[in-house]
Amino acid sequence: MLWAGDVLGRRTRFNRRWLEFTGGTALGERGRGWQKHVPADDLRRYLRELRAAAGSRAPLRTSYRVARSDGTSALVLEEARPRFDRRDHITGFVGVCLEADAPAPGRPAHADSDEPRSLSNRLVEIREEERSSLARELHDELGQVLTSTKLDLMWLCEQARQPDTRPSVTLINRLQSLAGLVEIAIASVQRITADLRPAALDHLGLGAALEWEGTKFQARTGIRCRVDARIEGEPVDPARAVALFRIAQESLTNVARHARAGAVRLSLRRVNGQIVLEVRDNGRGITAQEMRAARSTGLHGMRDRARLLGGECRISGTPGRGTKVVVSIPVAAAGA
Ligand SMILES: Nc1ncnc2c1ncn2[C@@H]1O[C@H](COP(=O)(O)OP(=O)(O)OP(=O)(O)O)[C@@H](O)[C@H]1O
Ligand SMILES: [Mg+2]
Repeated sequence: MLWAGDVLGRRTRFNRRWLEFTGGTALGERGRGWQKHVPADDLRRYLRELRAAAGSRAPLRTSYRVARSDGTSALVLEEARPRFDRRDHITGFVGVCLEADAPAPGRPAHADSDEPRSLSNRLVEIREEERSSLARELHDELGQVLTSTKLDLMWLCEQARQPDTRPSVTLINRLQSLAGLVEIAIASVQRITADLRPAALDHLGLGAALEWEGTKFQARTGIRCRVDARIEGEPVDPARAVALFRIAQESLTNVARHARAGAVRLSLRRVNGQIVLEVRDNGRGITAQEMRAARSTGLHGMRDRARLLGGECRISGTPGRGTKVVVSIPVAAAGA
């Protein structure tokens, strides 16, 4: 479900799915109309969070309850991304909502045992499923709208250039700058969807997806990147593949942002029933203090992902020689 609105929680647009979900009409939901579907305490907290996000110009990830058209209540996960005008002033948000408790397609509701490991696996899976459906919604809904807007704009530019029309230079300039803005929006939708769902993983498998990631990284940063990720045997299952891929991505981002490295090497191997990913750069070397820092979401995320799959993530640095990240995850789920 999608919506667009301002920084005070007044919404201007909803997609069809939102209207079907709540049973509201486009007109009835507008402004503060949609708020009648949200319980008062959730709404107060949500509006507070939205204002805070607007203040810090940051995306908001949150959840709140929404009444369905049949009167039952659903928990909705939302990601609202700020929008800016050309002077970089925040103008509002575009929100993507997903029903948190919707059963995953094709999966029985109680497929998991009570075993902690499978619960952790399921948590990782849920997170990835959410990201995938977010990516699909963004791509299908926003991407399409933007593409048709761009086509219309191009048509208008064409019309304005016809010999028998005499549009002002300002009009043509405006149209062209609008087309430019839409172009930027299309590019950001593509970037965000690619970010949310590693499409390369689905199409290529883990090894090739890592190679491709390395190629893109080198082209983008100018840091030499060698990838040795062709592994023999069974393909790595999706949960582990996604975890390893995300950890590799975060490690590479860190190399670009912090390492001051000239080169980085990435390798994937199988060692005694474990699959081992290593990312090694030749930069300044992470310090013990940096590794312990409480605020480091990136490193925490890497460790969490490995741990949820029964593995571990070790990070080490040598001053002036570089940083090494080694992740090992058992391939056959213990007890399975
Ligand atoms: N390859 C590296 N070389 C040198 N220092 C690093 C490297 N990777 C991480 N660091 C240091 O460790 C810190 C923590 O990394 P972490 O990824 O957790 O946070 P971050 O990259 O600063 O922000 P984010 O949470 O957005 O990832 C970094 O701020 C940086 O100082
Ligand atoms: Mg980081």
